[in-house]
Amino acid sequence: MISCDNLVKIYKTKETEVVALQGLDLTIQRGELTAVIGKSGSGKSTLLNVIAGLDRPSAGSVHVDGKNLLKFNDKQLMLYNRETIGFVWQNKARNLLPYLSAELNVQLPMMITGAKKRRDRARELLDMVGLKNRYKSKLKQLSGGEQQRVAIAIALANNPKLLLADEPTGSVDSKTTLKIMELFEKLNEELGVTVVIVTHDLKLSSAVNRVISISDGMIGSEMVKREDYRKKLSELDDMAHPANSHDEFAVIDNKGRIKIPEEILANMELKGGERIKIRKILDGFEVCKE
Ligand SMILES: Nc1ncnc2c1ncn2[C@@H]1O[C@H](COP(=O)(O)OP(=O)(O)OP(=O)(O)O)[C@@H](O)[C@H]1O
Ligand SMILES: [Mg+2]
Repeated sequence: MISCDNLVKIYKTKETEVVALQGLDLTIQRGELTAVIGKSGSGKSTLLNVIAGLDRPSAGSVHVDGKNLLKFNDKQLMLYNRETIGFVWQNKARNLLPYLSAELNVQLPMMITGAKKRRDRARELLDMVGLKNRYKSKLKQLSGGEQQRVAIAIALANNPKLLLADEPTGSVDSKTTLKIMELFEKLNEELGVTVVIVTHDLKLSSAVNRVISISDGMIGSEMVKREDYRKKLSELDDMAHPANSHDEFAVIDNKGRIKIPEEILANMELKGGERIKIRKILDGFEVCKE
């Protein structure tokens, strides 16, 4: 579904130049549910914006759903965004119009595309995100978590193949966070939509099978879940870090370069710049200090 190769994004202003993505490689399969974690400023929103066709990379390539985004002109890129992508913004105010009802908010993107039976479809989507009977509620009459559900319904209005959510649980408590996470999981399973969720909430990422960590605009490491998170719901605090629920893997990029997770480097007392040895052992390879 998504393939990024050596992606670079540089923001240039008069005085400064910020390298937000520096040679990022990423592959996400159709139907996957993936979380992207990373510190503030690590390039998470930049990555999502490039995948959504809202921003163009400075170098490298992006393919989504078999299409090369770099070949699109501005109009094609806008159509691609409208038809293929559902987006939940990091800034909540960008998702919703507070003076309109929930159902009118969901109908808006359908008005732009001229879709038919908008009211029925809006209500169906609101049912799907768990807001039955709140069709007529104004946004200000809904809680933060409920507003996020409306934002998710809006993102689904055009039947996207790819649902991108930037910090969808930024301002809700951990219980609501898990409920919203379960909603993404349900949508992923029932609609088959590929989902990428950006977060720095480690609890949220613990609910997902695949967690990609990005640091300094590059993929740092990848974590794959050990067991079903539902069993662990009761032990919420234990899940405060994905390391407690996921196995962490170093990732080899397309050029054969390995980025070793920081914790392993610290354990091996390596700072970078030292020589390491890769030895063949019985069922694999072992990395050790020279
Ligand atoms: N439009 C822009 N112009 C200039 N610099 C930008 C722009 N957008 C982002 N940046 C810079 O690029 C880097 C990555 O920003 P980005 O928003 O992708 O980070 P993030 O991981 O989403 O952070 P957060 O968790 O705080 O949302 C930051 O240093 C940021 O200041
Ligand atoms: Mg961001």
